[in-house]
Amino acid sequence: MTPVPVAETIAETRATVAAARAAGRVVSFVPTMGALHAGHAELVRVARRLAGPSGLVVVSIFVNPTQFGPAEDFTRYPRSLDADRTLCGDAGADLIFHPTPAEMYPGHAVAFADVTELGDHLCGPSRPGHFRGVCTVVLKLLNVVQPDVSVFGAKDAQQVRIVRRMVADLNVPGRIEIAPTVREADGLAMSSRNVFLDAAERAAAPRIYAALLAVRARARSGETDVARLESALRADLAAIPGARVDYARIVDDDRMQPLPRLDRPGLCAVAVFLGRTRLIDNLTLP
Ligand code: PAJ
Repeated sequence: MTPVPVAETIAETRATVAAARAAGRVVSFVPTMGALHAGHAELVRVARRLAGPSGLVVVSIFVNPTQFGPAEDFTRYPRSLDADRTLCGDAGADLIFHPTPAEMYPGHAVAFADVTELGDHLCGPSRPGHFRGVCTVVLKLLNVVQPDVSVFGAKDAQQVRIVRRMVADLNVPGRIEIAPTVREADGLAMSSRNVFLDAAERAAAPRIYAALLAVRARARSGETDVARLESALRADLAAIPGARVDYARIVDDDRMQPLPRLDRPGLCAVAVFLGRTRLIDNLTLP
């Protein structure tokens, strides 16, 4: 498989997309920050299915500085463009958009995209400004690629709900589809950050998913009291060696707000530090 062509400029990407569209091809899009793994590959395969064999599948690889806080891991975030090109080719992508920070942010910007309410809990309070950075870069990427359909992962549950609402509320053209979380054989959700885990942290990490499964089992056997479910979840997470819980919450699956009773679909979402590495995972309930 030949590596997928890489466009570094907005103009080149727009020209390729415009030619595809003029030829009647469906355009699908997978935004990423690179360091791609099997979870990203699944998103690309879904994008290929949605675009059809003659469609144009675009993957963006851009480590977006504006969604990282000052004390976060922007500079050490893993980068692996050569391997990413091969993975994208194998999964069925046609084009990688890989802009420089200067291409995406050429000067002092005064306009941004953001959402209210959906960012009030979970990752919002832990990462101030994060979702504004995500919304802004996703809207910019959608404006560059103008896809018929974009594919996001359920792994970043709050992110995809926020993006869906942004697209709906601002009448951004194109659909947003969600692909399920891809996991390692032991249950750990795949993440570009998993490479930061040392051997002991890697061995402990699957217990995050095990704790989520235990919550789901309790909910399925009839427990609807969210405070009780959350305290059992926190106890399970606190028992993981070396873990520091950032949050462990059950929220309304739609509005991302606290939910006293599981009388409607819920989302159980956690963020846990293992050493310096912050891992997130989630499951829908019941
Ligand atoms: P990144 O973390 O690279 O993730 C890109 C996409 O891959 C997201 O939609 C994410 O939910 C999905 N993904 C990551 N791990 C996954 C897994 N194990 N299974 C299924 N899908 C998975 O999310 C971002 O980048 C950025 O915030 C971005 C949207 C690109 C904006 O900068």
